[in-house]
Amino acid sequence: MSCWIAGVQVQQVSHQLGSSSQESESCRMKKKLFLDVDTGVDDAQAIMMALAAPDVEILGISCCHGNTSLENALKNTLRVLKVCNRLDIPVYRGCAEPMLARQRHAGDFHGKDGLGDVPDPDPPSLDLLKKKAVQAMIKAVRENPGEVTLVATAPLTNLGVAVLLDPNFPKKLKALYIMGGNTESRGNTTVCGEFNFVADPEAAYIVLDRYTCPTYIATWEFSGRNSLPWSFCDDWLAQDTDKARFMEKISRHTREVIQTERYQKEMVGKSGFNACDAYALAAAIDDGLVTESEEVAVTVELEGTYTRGMMVVDYMGLLKKKHKAVIMKKVDLERFKQMLMNALK
Ligand code: RIB
Ligand code: CA
Repeated sequence: MSCWIAGVQVQQVSHQLGSSSQESESCRMKKKLFLDVDTGVDDAQAIMMALAAPDVEILGISCCHGNTSLENALKNTLRVLKVCNRLDIPVYRGCAEPMLARQRHAGDFHGKDGLGDVPDPDPPSLDLLKKKAVQAMIKAVRENPGEVTLVATAPLTNLGVAVLLDPNFPKKLKALYIMGGNTESRGNTTVCGEFNFVADPEAAYIVLDRYTCPTYIATWEFSGRNSLPWSFCDDWLAQDTDKARFMEKISRHTREVIQTERYQKEMVGKSGFNACDAYALAAAIDDGLVTESEEVAVTVELEGTYTRGMMVVDYMGLLKKKHKAVIMKKVDLERFKQMLMNALK
C-alpha cells in the first residue's frame, strides 16, 4: 500500500530511501471521523466498530439528546470509550433538547439510561467531558478542510445548529453519513417517522437542505432489510473478550424487547439483528460496503398530522433541489459481519 504526498507516491519515495513497507503502510492516510451520537446500544456498536478499524482516526465525539437524556448519552459514550481503553478521545456536550419539537426518548427500547439499565460499578469520571460540542465540531473540520467525514447517528440537532452558526461548515466536510429517515414512510417511532428524524424534524429539515457535501443516508427500511440472523448475533456476543461481555450485558434489554409483538410489527423485512447506527458507520469507513444505492433529492415533512418527521423522497424532481443524497439500499453482509466481529475483539 502507499499514499501520495505532494503528488509523489510515498512507496516510491520510501523505496528510494530504503524504508520498509511498514513505513509506507504507516503513511497511509487515516480516515478522519467526527461522530455525533445519542449513545444508546446501536450507537455504542458504531463507536466500537470505528475504534476497531486500523485506518480510522476519531477526532471527537459530540453527544446529543435522543435515545436518552444528554447527560446519559455523555456518560454512556464515556463507558464505551473506557471498555475500549480510548478515554483519550474527546467527548463533547451538545444540545440537550430539540430545536422545536417536544422532547422524546427511546428508553423503552434502549433502557432508561440508554445502555440497557446495566449498573456500572466503576464509571469513568465526568470530569473528562468537554463543553460546546457544536463549536468543537466546527473547529475540527476547519482544521482539517476536506478531510473529515461526519457520522451522525442521533437526532440532527447538533448538526442543524452547526450550519446555523457557520453556513460554510458543510462545504469543508469530506462527507456526511446519517443513520435516519425513511423511504417508504415506515415508522419505528410514529406511524410514518423514524426516531432520529422525528425527535427533531426541524433539524433534519435544515441538515437535508443545507448540507450540500456528499451525503449518504442509512434509512430505517435499509437497516431492517439488511439485518443479520440472530445466530450471528449469538456468535458475535459469545466472543471471549471484555468488549463482547460488555455488549452482551448492555444489549440484553434491547434483544428481549425486540422479540415482543410490539417490536415485531415495526420491523421491516425479516426479523433479525438490526444494528442501525453501525450501518452508517460501516459505510463511512469501508467504501466497498454498500453494493446498491440510489441518488435522489430528499427533504423532511414538518406539518403532517401523521407524517411530521417523515423523509420525503423526490423521485419526480418536483422540489428542484440540486443536491441529491445517496440512499443506501444493500450492503455486503459478509464484510459488515466481519466489521462487527472486529468491533468486539
Ligand atoms: O431509528 C433508529 C435510530 O434511533 C438509531 O440511531 C437509534 O440509536 C436511535 O437513535
Ligand atoms: Ca443513535
